[in-house]
Amino acid sequence: MAAGEEQSGLSNPAGQLWASLNSATRLDQSLPDLPPGGIDDASFRLLADNLPTLAWIANGDGYIVWFNRRWHDYCGTTPDQMEGWGWQTVHHPDVLPGVLERWRRSIGEGSPFEMIYPLRGADGVYRPFLARAAPVLDASGKVVRWLGKNSDVSAQIRVEAALRESEARFRNMADNAPVMMWVTDASGACTYLNREWFEFTGQTAQEALGLGWLDATHPDDRPEAERTFLAANARREPFRMEYRLRRRDGSYRWAIDAAAPRFSDDGSFCGYIGSVLDIEERHETEDRLKEAEERLRLATEAAEVGFWDLDLLNDVLVWPPIVKAMFGISADVPVSMEDFSKGLHPEDLEPTTTALQAACDPRQRALYDVEYRTIGKEDGVERWVAAKGRGLFDAQGRCTRVIGTAIDITARKKTEAELQDLNQRLETRVARAIDEKRQAEEALRQSQKLEAIGKLTGGVAHDFNNLLQVIAGNLELLADSIDDPRARRRLDHAQDAVRRGAKLAGQLLAFGRRTPLEPKVINAGKLVRGLDDMLRRTLGDEIEVETTISGGLWNTHADPMQLENAILNLAINARDAMNGSGKLTIEVGNAFLDDDYARLHSDVSAGQYVMIAVTDTGSGISPELIDQVFEPFFSTKPEGQGTGLGLSMVYGFAKQSHGHVKIYSEVAQGTSVKMYLPRSTQREDAPVVRDDAPLVGGRETILVVEDNESVRSTVVDMLSGLGYHVLKAGDAASALAVIESGASIDLLFTDVVMPGPLRSPELARKAKDRLPRIAVLFTSGYTENAIVHGGRLDEGVSLISKPYTRDALARKLRQLLDGRPAPRPQDEDGAKRAASPAGDGPPPRLRILVVEDEGLVRLLATDMLEEMGHEVFEAANAEDALRLLEAERYDVLFTDLGLPGMGGGELAGHALRLRPEIAIIFASGRPLTDGDAPDEVLARSIQISKPYTASDLAAKLTLRTDME
Ligand SMILES: Nc1ncnc2c1ncn2[C@@H]1O[C@H](COP(=O)(O)OP(=O)(O)OP(=O)(O)O)[C@@H](O)[C@H]1O
Ligand SMILES: [Mg+2]
Repeated sequence: MAAGEEQSGLSNPAGQLWASLNSATRLDQSLPDLPPGGIDDASFRLLADNLPTLAWIANGDGYIVWFNRRWHDYCGTTPDQMEGWGWQTVHHPDVLPGVLERWRRSIGEGSPFEMIYPLRGADGVYRPFLARAAPVLDASGKVVRWLGKNSDVSAQIRVEAALRESEARFRNMADNAPVMMWVTDASGACTYLNREWFEFTGQTAQEALGLGWLDATHPDDRPEAERTFLAANARREPFRMEYRLRRRDGSYRWAIDAAAPRFSDDGSFCGYIGSVLDIEERHETEDRLKEAEERLRLATEAAEVGFWDLDLLNDVLVWPPIVKAMFGISADVPVSMEDFSKGLHPEDLEPTTTALQAACDPRQRALYDVEYRTIGKEDGVERWVAAKGRGLFDAQGRCTRVIGTAIDITARKKTEAELQDLNQRLETRVARAIDEKRQAEEALRQSQKLEAIGKLTGGVAHDFNNLLQVIAGNLELLADSIDDPRARRRLDHAQDAVRRGAKLAGQLLAFGRRTPLEPKVINAGKLVRGLDDMLRRTLGDEIEVETTISGGLWNTHADPMQLENAILNLAINARDAMNGSGKLTIEVGNAFLDDDYARLHSDVSAGQYVMIAVTDTGSGISPELIDQVFEPFFSTKPEGQGTGLGLSMVYGFAKQSHGHVKIYSEVAQGTSVKMYLPRSTQREDAPVVRDDAPLVGGRETILVVEDNESVRSTVVDMLSGLGYHVLKAGDAASALAVIESGASIDLLFTDVVMPGPLRSPELARKAKDRLPRIAVLFTSGYTENAIVHGGRLDEGVSLISKPYTRDALARKLRQLLDGRPAPRPQDEDGAKRAASPAGDGPPPRLRILVVEDEGLVRLLATDMLEEMGHEVFEAANAEDALRLLEAERYDVLFTDLGLPGMGGGELAGHALRLRPEIAIIFASGRPLTDGDAPDEVLARSIQISKPYTASDLAAKLTLRTDME
């Protein structure tokens, strides 16, 4: 045997054994060929020695007689050492007793021997061998031989151990795995279940193995699970299924069961190995996720939020219907990136795409947060959209998708715009209100200023009037005694200057609103037309005059003479401003000054007005000066050409007439002055009769009862002008006082509608009781029918409707006075007295008390009265006058209204109480008003305006004393 073979046999005995048959055996001798089917002993020996196992032969008693060469090769023994029972030396001492015992038992029983035990090799290493020995019996059944063989099973045992270990590892692993595991065989019966399964289900191995595991599935899921398993089993395919698995506590949990088929090396199917995972939590999570998703879906749906997804790799744009709607695209129409870029409003395209690029840019990874407008693809409607999104990037940092949300914010934008608009409007309104307030304050300041100047100039004019009075009176007195024509001429000049001065004073008074106005219900249009000729003459040929009077013009209540004056002043100003050529327009129309206008002009009340506008194309007035033009004495005209009182008069007149003036001017364009006079709803008064044609008047005494002061004074003037003696009263009660004072009154002329508790018909009855012959004439703005209400007027009572002409009044008065019953004896005296002043005899010498604080004026009055032949007494103040009145009797009290201490009005009251028959004449530069004296005094007094002439004074004196 070659050393190499031995060595290889030593290192790997099994391999060495088999190898010995693969190599040649060399003999020392030659052998003859064997006949077919023949065998010789040498060949058998060769075969036995070269068997791959260790072989031996024993006699019936167990005495081993022969070991093959393999034995000695392995054990390193010789036949002598081994013969009989020598084999024990290669056995392990620990095992040997068991081997001997078994071997002896087999020898004793004649039964086959089989055992695995270790045998020591030549290298001293024990290796396991499977020993088998079979008895050989003779014909009598006695054991005559033992044939034994020992096979090295170390490799087999190593494999088995490895297998055992692997299986143990698998079990260990499987039992400790957190999932349930199972194994089935090819028939589908479960052969193994891990510990987790038993712990989870509470099943025993007995219950679970085979198909028992199905009992632990939920009854509802079991048929499906069984079907899936069996079907997969039949096809030997991997499978995966979900079912509810019963836990040991009886509750079911969702589980996922996944299995793969097992095949042996030869490819035959061995069954499945599978695992079961409790996915209840995952299911719960999934359910919660689903729920959360549903909630999100509902929320986003409710909030009308649309999700969008732009897949850049596949170039796909995913838009839900709601986003499509934002671009005016129907829900079922497919969309692409082009729909996005084309749908953007051109102005928003650039910023929006820039923002999207920034979101996709891996270096920026910006938040895509934009608001843009879209133009609806199908409907062309413009909408506002707010979109937000983020890019998603892959491992290489490439942007693969951009996802985000979009909301239609059209309504919000609209609201925002509206809000902004509202704020804007509010701001302008506030600004306007502030501006208006400023304007109103400015206007107030201006009117207060003019008011103050008015008071001042009024006062000045008053004093000025007093002076003029003195001068004029003296000039008049002087005139009687001058015959020299030169002196006469000078006197005329002086008187002319006084008249101019009086005119000036008149204008000042007008500005101070102290002109004794005679307002009438007039048609301003007619009045302006009437001025046309005169204006054309005044303005010259170079100035075109246009007059426009609008149709349906309302009447206005104003003093026509003063109105003419005002228009004339404006026209002259226009002429001067136009330097002789241009166009003058006078417009007359209805106007409504509304609350807004009134708010801006503190002195204007809203309402209906008649507007007279005088407009020129002249030089205009610069803005710095415009506030001053109404001020008295403000003039830009050269010395001697303008007094600066024209506009002041216009202003004062408008104010005093309860109207308003406004001036508009534009330098180098022209100026427009607008006068607003209050509308009157009355019928137009009869035109003022300018000529003094004699009318049939009378000398009787008439008591005028009228609450409207201006009407009253007009009536009084009218009646005085007709020669009547006039008594006046502001209401029925004061009228009754006058009647009851015992005055002889021929006619009661009373307004029907009057303030106070005593009504006019009652007054008339009481008057008749007291003075049976008294005639009564009612007047009213209403028609006769409206007054009488189907009833009858009392005997001797008549009515004259307003407006009436002086003629009509005169006729009516005469008719009533003449129609009175004849006087009874007790009335004789009064009648005689009333008739007497009409006689031709010289006027009676009267005792007159003149009360005037201004020395010069007092002197003049005294002069004038003495000149008339009266006896005149003087007092410089009311207190002195009162002392005189208490001491002596006077026929007439001639007093200034404004006195330093007690006023003239109050003095007159005292005088009347002391001497009821005394006549009272007030001298004043302004018209009397109700506050100047008690009513009964006013009713019994007359007024003379300063400056007065001697003849004025004489006339008044006659009138007044005749009344008494
Ligand atoms: N239509 C106008 N165009 C330009 N300036 C005017 C006009 N009306 C008035 N003015 C200016 O207002 C000033 C005052 O006018 P106002 O009529 O009060 O006085 P006057 O014309 O100067 O003098 P008076 O009218 O007393 O003769 C004028 O001097 C002039 O500067
Ligand atoms: Mg003027």
